[in-house]
Amino acid sequence: MSRMGRPLLNRRLEGFGTTIFAEMSALAVRTGAINLGQGFPDTDGPAEVREAAVRALREGHGNQYPPGPGIPELRRAVAAHQRRFYELEYDPDREVLVTAGATEAIAASLLALVEPGDEVIALEPYYDSYAACIAMAGGTRVPVTLRPNGDGYVLDLDELRAAVTGRTRLILLNTPHNPTGTVLTRAELAAIAELAVERDLLVVTDEVYEHLVFDGEHHPLAGFPGMRGRTVSISSAGKTFSFTGWKVGWVTAAPELITAVRTAKQFLTYVSAGPFQYAVAEALSLDDSYFRSLRADLRGKRDLLAAGLEEAGFRVYRPAGTYFITTDIRPLGEDDGIAFCLGLPERCGVVAVPTAVFYDDKDAGRSIVRFAFCKQDDVLREAASRLKGLRAG
Ligand SMILES: Cc1ncc(COP(=O)(O)O)c(C=O)c1O
Repeated sequence: MSRMGRPLLNRRLEGFGTTIFAEMSALAVRTGAINLGQGFPDTDGPAEVREAAVRALREGHGNQYPPGPGIPELRRAVAAHQRRFYELEYDPDREVLVTAGATEAIAASLLALVEPGDEVIALEPYYDSYAACIAMAGGTRVPVTLRPNGDGYVLDLDELRAAVTGRTRLILLNTPHNPTGTVLTRAELAAIAELAVERDLLVVTDEVYEHLVFDGEHHPLAGFPGMRGRTVSISSAGKTFSFTGWKVGWVTAAPELITAVRTAKQFLTYVSAGPFQYAVAEALSLDDSYFRSLRADLRGKRDLLAAGLEEAGFRVYRPAGTYFITTDIRPLGEDDGIAFCLGLPERCGVVAVPTAVFYDDKDAGRSIVRFAFCKQDDVLREAASRLKGLRAG
């Protein structure tokens, strides 16, 4: 529909439509299929964390607007987490900002730091909100493609260097990377840091899967030489504590960067999730065994689903982190991931996500399909057994 010859939707958002996750989850509900599309666990996080939220609600903590930057307890807990796991020091009062999930942190960072005409480099396939937020900020997306190689994907550092121009404002990084499961190595991150310093770039780094690394180790970019003052690090409670509905995220960065991001953030939500902020502050101080068993549990699920997908005939790329497995469907005689995913619920009662929608280079992701494994083992087994029917049919 148009009024006065102009589309209703702001042209910056033209073509974004409904997110693929909402579309695929709706398809799962409509068909009753097993939903391995959207990345949310089918069991809740620790009972004591849930009870901490109940307690906060009952005791009236956070039922009214919490402070704009987030409650001090949570800001202190975020700073302590960065120190405990990465030996990074942040001042909870000036260098930590609580957001409505990582999603708002990404939006606020890009709206704060990007101007029309700026170029933003993002690794593709990219998480879908990146493209929309770069567009809303008026920036230009410059993708650098992670390419399948052996069991995983690789970043071509020369391609990344070549993508930087005089208009590049920032690199939007994501490690561990959704959807490929790539965990950038220390050497790769060191090269990215060198490039950012040399070309005087900012980096926004989305680390929501920081605790879901099965092979290798997560290294925050902010810890590399020259990066502490130019890196905006983003994380969230959703994936680490299995409460994706609470939408508690955070940003850590130097004071000037936090001030910039907070300026945008205050006009998006102002504040959110009052009582949940108290609960997440407690969650962040769970002892190391919690984080170890989360990782071990999800590693087991990765192996379970990867074996099932292989048996069903998919070419499986083994993720080093996150809770997603990408597969190539060509060994099944298929090559269009979008058509394949649209037909999958009818064919065998499973929902997956086509990764083509996360690429500018549609051909690069055409035959790649993503499955989430943050589900109960029985659900994963049942999904694998249904998928085995594909070869027969
Ligand atoms: C890479 C990445 N960033 C951000 C988010 C969103 O995080 P939140 O739910 O905290 O907004 C997700 C969720 O799937 C994600 O995969």
